[in-house]
Amino acid sequence: MSQKETDLSQNGFFGHPLGLRTLFFTELWERMSYYGMRGLLVLYMTIGVIGNPGLGWSNIEANAIYGVYAGMVYFLALPGGWLADNLLGYQKAVLYGAIIIMLGHFTLAIPLEQTFILGLALVAVGTGLLKPNISSIVGQLYADDDERRDSGFTVFYMSINIGSMLGFAICGYLGERIGWHWGFGAAGIGMLFGVLQYIYFRDKLGEAGLYPNAMSQDRRKALRFWTITTILFFSAIVITGMFGIWNVDPVFFAERFRDFLVVVSFIYFGYLFFFAGLTSSEKKNVLMLLLLFIGAAAFWSGFDQSAGSLSIFTRDYVNLSFGSFQAPVSWTQFLNPLFVVMFAPFFAYLWIFLGKRNLNPNTPIKFAIGLIFMGLGFIVMLYAVEYALISAPVGVQWLLLTYLLHTFGELVLSPVGLSAFSRYSPKKYLGQMMGLWFLASSLGGVLAGLFGGEATESGLTSMTPIFTELIYYYFILAVVLIGLSFFIKGKINSSQ
Ligand code: PHE
Repeated sequence: MSQKETDLSQNGFFGHPLGLRTLFFTELWERMSYYGMRGLLVLYMTIGVIGNPGLGWSNIEANAIYGVYAGMVYFLALPGGWLADNLLGYQKAVLYGAIIIMLGHFTLAIPLEQTFILGLALVAVGTGLLKPNISSIVGQLYADDDERRDSGFTVFYMSINIGSMLGFAICGYLGERIGWHWGFGAAGIGMLFGVLQYIYFRDKLGEAGLYPNAMSQDRRKALRFWTITTILFFSAIVITGMFGIWNVDPVFFAERFRDFLVVVSFIYFGYLFFFAGLTSSEKKNVLMLLLLFIGAAAFWSGFDQSAGSLSIFTRDYVNLSFGSFQAPVSWTQFLNPLFVVMFAPFFAYLWIFLGKRNLNPNTPIKFAIGLIFMGLGFIVMLYAVEYALISAPVGVQWLLLTYLLHTFGELVLSPVGLSAFSRYSPKKYLGQMMGLWFLASSLGGVLAGLFGGEATESGLTSMTPIFTELIYYYFILAVVLIGLSFFIKGKINSSQ
């Protein structure tokens, strides 16, 4: 290889390794398909939109299914990460994940009710394989001391948000205006672009994430056997469910899934604290991470109302006509990724600015600020509901302000959370601790479905009490985090 080629492979994408470009576009198309489809999901399951009826399920059931789906997507990041570590290697895990996601969206594009759950299950399994592992490869593109690593993750975060903008715009329009299954099919085509691009440019990744952990042939065989058995077992459950052999109430299922996630999280933290042989300072860090975990789950449970209760509110009570043009309901969700792209540089600059003056707030305080923004967003929604009770539809400015506040919360909390989990985790357990970060999103997702269902159970009247409850819960958690931040002051200081 000539010198010039080597340089290009190291700096060929905005000063980053060319492999980042491969991952950037894979993640972009994956998020396009994920958010594009997710934006339609609850609308489709309930009464649909004007001129395009949905399945007619109740708000509470539809939200519960949405919650289980959102929860599963991130819960499966744990086995997805494990499979990549032990059997597949990260590169293959991303490839298989992307193909399974694509097949899932194409399954959803079949206009049959029976294949609906199968489609959702495939997308969830595929995302579990792709999402955690693609981020791991990003990290592996850089040597440990490479200063471009953080900025590489920032570039990668942009792909997430550009992808979601595309998804809401394209799948939202096609799904609501032409037909639901066209929207789902478009998500599949988006993922197809991602798959082709990944296959074509995979060589740019070099050896980053190519090989799984070394182990004996026998052990690998045993792991493979148990993996295949587990896959067959769960496939049988999904397929028998499809044929109506068993039936379960979605709300009941969502509640049990929530309990399961809470128990798994506490066992995980309990094990780390009591049995992992950590030093006392490592134990203190684990306690702080537990607190951040609770804060993050609470945050995502409000954030994910976007495709749940907020989507239903938008459809039923918000005026989306601009002159003679009527905007699709899911287009309003475009606001979050748009605001992320617009304001991310401002927040990055703010922390540097405060850091220079020694005023950069520590991680628990940043989490508290994130939760306060979340609460403020719901205070705005309380006003929107109040006005809608007097005379609906209300203007779109309420959503604009709510999503702006929620995005500010995301920008304060999400990157700091990720960096805290990678920085304060006991080193031996790093991979699993990243899994815990996804578990917080998972718990947040299922809680979002449950809260969103209760909030929309009986139109506007059920929204005020649930949103008020959420506001209390954010503010109380924020106060606890601020209180504890003094307690652990000095120990923790995040530079992000
Ligand atoms: N917009 C982010 C994404 O899709 C939200 C998120 C943060 C999801 C953290 C999971 C974990 O990636």
